[in-house]
Amino acid sequence: MQIATRPAPAKPPVSAEAVLATIEPGARAHRCKDLLIYLHVPFCSSKCHFCDWVVGYPTADLVAKGGLRQAYVDALVRQISWYGPRLSALGYRPTHLYWGGGTPTRLSAPQLDLVNRALADAFDLRGLREFTLEGSPETVTDEKLEVLRRHGLSRISIGVQSFDDAVLRKMGRSHDADTARQAIARVRAAGLTHFNVDLITGFADQSSQSALASIRTTAELLVPHVTVYLFRTLSENLVSVRQVEQGHRNLAEPEARYDCVMESKQALEQVGYHEYARSYYARSEAHRFDAEDFYFSSRGDFVGFGAGAHSTLGRHLLSQSPHGETVDVHRYIADPLSQATVRPAASFSSAYLARRLMVGLYARDGVSTARWRERYGVEVSALLETPEARTMLETMQELGGVFERSAERLALTPETWIPTLAAFNAAE
Ligand SMILES: C[S@@+](CC[C@H](N)C(=O)[O-])C[C@H]1O[C@@H](n2cnc3c(N)ncnc32)[C@H](O)[C@@H]1O
Ligand code: SF4
Repeated sequence: MQIATRPAPAKPPVSAEAVLATIEPGARAHRCKDLLIYLHVPFCSSKCHFCDWVVGYPTADLVAKGGLRQAYVDALVRQISWYGPRLSALGYRPTHLYWGGGTPTRLSAPQLDLVNRALADAFDLRGLREFTLEGSPETVTDEKLEVLRRHGLSRISIGVQSFDDAVLRKMGRSHDADTARQAIARVRAAGLTHFNVDLITGFADQSSQSALASIRTTAELLVPHVTVYLFRTLSENLVSVRQVEQGHRNLAEPEARYDCVMESKQALEQVGYHEYARSYYARSEAHRFDAEDFYFSSRGDFVGFGAGAHSTLGRHLLSQSPHGETVDVHRYIADPLSQATVRPAASFSSAYLARRLMVGLYARDGVSTARWRERYGVEVSALLETPEARTMLETMQELGGVFERSAERLALTPETWIPTLAAFNAAE
């Protein structure tokens, strides 16, 4: 017999005023007022078959032209203009600006200009140390780069994924390898010396020779920073995952997936890159990305603007979706100010916090207990007593991980750090 379950009644959204009142005491108590601003742009040229960032958005919205994008930009401007001065009054000072998505360069040059103007009006951006934006090759134009440079863009991350046209087609990308080369040339011509190329390894039917050839091409192009992601198959709604399930494509076994990661690492290290955070490779210290380290290392709070963007402010986690589901763009446009949930970080499930702890291990220095106390109001030692965190650590130990644990931090030893995380992710 099946027991009928009724969905939990939807809670009314938390008004922007209530959000601010809730986070205020924690924000004022913070010693560190550094703030990362994340801007979410859920628009793309196409819905790639592997992408788990935007899988929940209806394709029609994701690739929408004209009106919807403008309405979204107007909502972003509203949200930024409301929160900016109020967060500034609480003492927050933006140090990092990160545009992600989706594809921020899917917005037009005037739209990018509009949002950046709103940011400059709403926040004191004089302390900004890094301004990064993600873009896909076919959407990076000279005009957009010119506008963004005028507003202080210091780095761009280009989603190349592969320089193999056959692989790009299987991925459902909207560009070929030549377009990726042209985008890199354009970024250089715009005077950006700090930029990144995203690559994927371990994708369905992608041979390791093809992945390594893309790494070699990236190195030959003297790209200053490379990110190599192992294809994640966590979402069953991905076209690529379904193709594998239906037997149309092959996915390597965990051991071979682990090899893909370690071979990429070796190939990049041989030509002078160093992996300073999990999957992040820089040619020199100066080319490292700082925003990711800010996030992994819990250096300060972050505020997310846009549909479904999360925030951690004043020891509270803010979310526009009650259960982490994708937030409908139309719903966001209708009400960009309120949040679905605003809860003390300490009240979040230990499974959720254990996941954040793992992200903390992506940074070479691991998890700082003082920063966790400051950002989340949570003692790492207490979290480590929970079954979820214990299981995670035990699994990593079984995979060869050796932990260095002190009152100040929790980290994997330098020798076991990357192999352990690679094996952990390959098995997920
Ligand atoms: C939020 S996307 C933005 C990139 C940009 N829209 C583009 O495609 O050019 C950031 C990166 O996540 C990576 N990514 C997305 N889904 C992934 C998956 N299932 N497994 C591994 N990496 C993934 C891709 O490398 C992608 O470039
Ligand atoms: S990889 Fe980039 S372009 Fe492709 S669907 Fe994801 S966010 Fe959009």
